[in-house]
Amino acid sequence: MNKQSNVQTLLDIKNLRVWYKTTRGNAQAVDGIDLTINRNEVFGLAGESGCGKSTLAKGILGMVRLPAYIESGEAIFYRSVSGSSSMGVDLLAIPSGEMRRLRWRHIAYIPQGAMNVLNPVMRVERQILDAIYEHSNMSKEEARRRMFECLDMVGLEPAVARMYPHELSGGMKQRVTIAAAVSLKPELIIADEPTTALDVNVQQVILQELKEIREQLGLTLIYVTHDMAVHAELADRIGIMYSGLMVEIASAVSIFKNPLHPYTQGLIASIPTIGGDRSRMTGIPGATPSPLDWPPGCRFHPRCPKAMEICRQQPPVMREVAPEQIVACHLYNDGMTSEEQ
Ligand SMILES: Nc1ncnc2c1ncn2[C@@H]1O[C@H](COP(=O)(O)OP(=O)(O)OP(=O)(O)O)[C@@H](O)[C@H]1O
Ligand SMILES: [Mg+2]
Repeated sequence: MNKQSNVQTLLDIKNLRVWYKTTRGNAQAVDGIDLTINRNEVFGLAGESGCGKSTLAKGILGMVRLPAYIESGEAIFYRSVSGSSSMGVDLLAIPSGEMRRLRWRHIAYIPQGAMNVLNPVMRVERQILDAIYEHSNMSKEEARRRMFECLDMVGLEPAVARMYPHELSGGMKQRVTIAAAVSLKPELIIADEPTTALDVNVQQVILQELKEIREQLGLTLIYVTHDMAVHAELADRIGIMYSGLMVEIASAVSIFKNPLHPYTQGLIASIPTIGGDRSRMTGIPGATPSPLDWPPGCRFHPRCPKAMEICRQQPPVMREVAPEQIVACHLYNDGMTSEEQ
């Protein structure tokens, strides 16, 4: 787990809103997120289905197409330029050509369901090599060497390079997408549910490989999944999303040992444990609200077992309640400064 004292910021997301235009108004899927990602950490993005994780992952990279659009915000990426210096660029304001140059070389994105978007009529080698040629100046020999290195990193035999996607299992396809993503040694990888569709054993192996790759390449990983058990295994820090907002951000240790937001507590109570007593597992009652019509006050209040009157009226703000544990919940208002009140 990340316990560095000289933490460097890699990505600084400010007031990010990504909405969808619909015939019934704007679906406010990501609705004002402030988040800092540190260099070399694994940041786990968690929350139930529909809370906005994928929209946030795409929004950070400005990869939104209508009906989605960026309503507001910045995503400052501090890419390393030489040695230890870095330069900040707003990913949401740079021209698309510059963004294309950053993609792959500096930032790789593995979209949700990526293994299903491999081109069915292209061999694995073509798919990886094309990405390498397009985004680097590597010679043919260098690119091939790099491709085989990356296949090896994700536990695939060299023979896989000559195969077509339909010849691969789900786990192998997902490994190919990871091999392609790491081929140019990016500084940041955003991986959206890369192992969710796979069976538990394959998922375990791929998670282990991801951990090793990340250490080997010293990269930063934003790992998106609703599965808290995966976060427990991989994440240094975790951000819990609910209804388009962050409700708690803390180290993985704090999230699992001392979850503060009642929503986080509910998520943790819902984790099945191997050999554990499933009858004691509790889900979070009630359904997630619609981004077309968020509840007033705290968006979690209709489902919150600890809701108070203030929760129905006033949205809570994010504040540091314990060291490096930031929570948006009225239960912890006692720590408020007079100027915030
Ligand atoms: N094209 C669209 N038009 C309108 N609303 C949309 C559109 N795509 C997504 N949404 C809404 O945005 C919200 C966030 O969706 P998103 O896919 O980001 O959630 P998620 O947390 O990634 O869910 P999952 O865990 O199922 O992948 C959802 O409520 C969804 O209904
Ligand atoms: Mg998603």
